[in-house]
Amino acid sequence: MAGRNQTILTEFLLLGLPIEPEQRNLFYALFLAMYLTTTLGNLLIIVLIHLDSHLHTPMYFFLSNLSFSDLCFSSVTMPKLLQNMQRQVPSIPYAGCLAQMYFYLFFADLESFILVAMAYDRYVAICSPLHYATIMSPKLCVSLVVLSWVVTTLHALLHTLLMDRLHFCADNKIFHFFCDISALLKLSCTDTRVNELVIFFVGGLIVVIPFLLIIMSYARIVSSILKVPSAQGICKAFSTCGSHLSVVSLFYGTIIGLYFCPSGDNSIVKEMVMAMMYTVVTPMLNPFIYSLRNRDMKGALGRVFCKKIFSCCI
Ligand SMILES: *[C@@H]1O[C@H](CO)[C@@H](O)[C@H](O)[C@H]1NC(C)=O
Repeated sequence: MAGRNQTILTEFLLLGLPIEPEQRNLFYALFLAMYLTTTLGNLLIIVLIHLDSHLHTPMYFFLSNLSFSDLCFSSVTMPKLLQNMQRQVPSIPYAGCLAQMYFYLFFADLESFILVAMAYDRYVAICSPLHYATIMSPKLCVSLVVLSWVVTTLHALLHTLLMDRLHFCADNKIFHFFCDISALLKLSCTDTRVNELVIFFVGGLIVVIPFLLIIMSYARIVSSILKVPSAQGICKAFSTCGSHLSVVSLFYGTIIGLYFCPSGDNSIVKEMVMAMMYTVVTPMLNPFIYSLRNRDMKGALGRVFCKKIFSCCI
């Protein structure tokens, strides 16, 4: 009954980053450049892996999936942020806000599940190299990817449906640059205890389990290297795992910094900067981390372009 008289909100205001008006153009250019770099870098990786048959291995299929989810992850927030920076009223419709929340959760989860699959792939490659081809069969790779999609769909749907239950009253100002789940909960005028419990338990599991699996894979890798320490083995392990480890630490480092470190008085700004780190900076850096440190990727780039030039000349 009480809900009857409440006005139903049709849109939210995404107040975004606290940027001074005179610096707005500078930041606009910066974010646009970052978004374009992310898009082009990740597209290049997907296209290269698709075109070059040397890269048709489980590791590169997962990498291509990671690039795909990076690309989508930053496309969930960045275009809206850029659009709102140019508008007088930075609004987003209610349905758009829920959709943004859904896809944000979806691609963030997908990214962490793919990082697990990649860690498992490296674990098998280093700890049982002789059985690698039989263990990492195409069937297993596809199953891992499909399983990730199913789990992430269910998880994102759960939070979105729970959010849709809530009522929003007068206050529609979101102090964030996208429809973040915790920013929305703060605005709601109904009881959010169920949502918070679900976030704490289910969300915690979804973050902690992949993280533990990744740590376990690397612990096994390190212990197997230390059992037979040889300069060659260590080099090989570092060259195959180094780039992957830097992506993992970038991704989880910012999440842990955001959710587990005590926040001071400027916590809203800190939260937004951290969110910026893993929604914008991590997806942008991933292609560089892989392609700059990776001889196969550089070789593929050379081969694909040479083939193009060669076929043009004939
Ligand atoms: C993701 O991985 C699967 C399984 O290895 C592969 O078949 C698929 O092509 C990949 N998708 C993308 C976009 O690279």
